Amino acid sequence: MTKYEAIFRRKSVRKYTNEKVEEGILQEIQGFGRDAVGVRPDIRIKWKIYQASDHKVRGLFQVKAPYYAALYSEDSEDYHMNAGCLMQQLVLHLHTIGIGTCYQGGARLKEDAEEGLELMMILAFGYPAEPLERSRSDFKRMELKKLIKANVPVGRIQKKLLEPARLAPSALNQQPWRFVVTENRIHLFVRRPGPVGYQKQLNKNLFNAGIALSHMLITAEEHWFDLNYQKLDSIMEKAVQNHLYAGSLILGRI
Ligand SMILES: Cc1cc2nc3c(=O)[nH]c(=O)nc-3n(C[C@H](O)[C@H](O)[C@H](O)COP(=O)(O)O)c2cc1C
Repeated sequence: MTKYEAIFRRKSVRKYTNEKVEEGILQEIQGFGRDAVGVRPDIRIKWKIYQASDHKVRGLFQVKAPYYAALYSEDSEDYHMNAGCLMQQLVLHLHTIGIGTCYQGGARLKEDAEEGLELMMILAFGYPAEPLERSRSDFKRMELKKLIKANVPVGRIQKKLLEPARLAPSALNQQPWRFVVTENRIHLFVRRPGPVGYQKQLNKNLFNAGIALSHMLITAEEHWFDLNYQKLDSIMEKAVQNHLYAGSLILGRI
């Protein structure tokens, strides 16, 4: 199975066996990202794995799993989106080798910083004690037409990119993204948070947007679409239905 195929089959896994994950795989996770797509290599990141027996991970809505992967990042422009984009590629990769995952948005570690890097997210993982997969019809997501704004008929390539983005997981399944589609672009927007905890919520929404972005980039790679991700100054100040601009996918010659 490929990461692309995993997009249409994965689900959060909340029950795990105690089976050990092979040392080679744990090492792979700790070095994950070298061949990830869309990730900013200039942003310093670090992975750290905690075992349940370390009793280091705590917090709300926690799923009991044998392992947790914590992703730390340098504070830099777009680092929340970068982290979401990277972690989702790990999620899909682990799925292809039979390992289940579940994001732990409410989880905390005793020390949240690591070598000056900020804790971005914790991912529970391990071998599943429940189905690892589901069929496409079992995804509970908003319809595409509610997520997009298009002034032109949505093209074949855009449709191919948007469906995987629609299926992306998000915190509380909120799907805090919108897509503005033009002839050869898809602009990505995230929900504008309310005034309470504005920055924290915006950071979360941007992390979620990074997840959706990774699905589109993996799809582009799968289908050999010529695609560039960019932030366009001309759109920076625009808001769409209470959503803020996050970035744009520019399609090459189609
Ligand atoms: C950023 C983020 C944080 C999440 N936090 C939690 C969590 O704390 N506990 C939990 O059980 N699930 C958590 N989830 C899983 C979501 O509830 C789940 O992805 C969503 O409901 C869609 O379901 P699916 O992953 O099965 O497709 C989180 C997901 C994301 C993307």
